Amino acid sequence: MYTDKVMDHFTNPRNVGSIDDANGVGEVGNASCGDIMKIYLKVEDNIIKDVKFKTFGCGAAIATSSMVTEMAIGKTIEEALELSNQAVAEALDGLPAKKMHCSNLAADALHEAIKNYKEANG
Ligand code: FES
Repeated sequence: MYTDKVMDHFTNPRNVGSIDDANGVGEVGNASCGDIMKIYLKVEDNIIKDVKFKTFGCGAAIATSSMVTEMAIGKTIEEALELSNQAVAEALDGLPAKKMHCSNLAADALHEAIKNYKEANG
């Protein structure tokens, strides 16, 4: 049912945790299942230097969270805003149709964290 990449990121998620001096934090919940994802960003000179996440959710949500952190690190905030839920799912070689809604958490939480950063830093 799941691709090897999904299983890899689910069983060995990258960038789990929080950042004490984060300058952007975003949290989103999935209304249909109640799962929650929180993303912490460390932005310096418009570049995302570090990303960490905490996800209270299903395996697909954890895998997409892990993947979005890897995709966001090193990007400018403008580039990171372009990252879509679809792109995250594709980077994992796809998700089962029933699990596509889980991928919504990942990019949405990233975008919320960027919004939070922009509000705090003009
Ligand atoms: Fe809730 Fe997947 S079932 S995010």
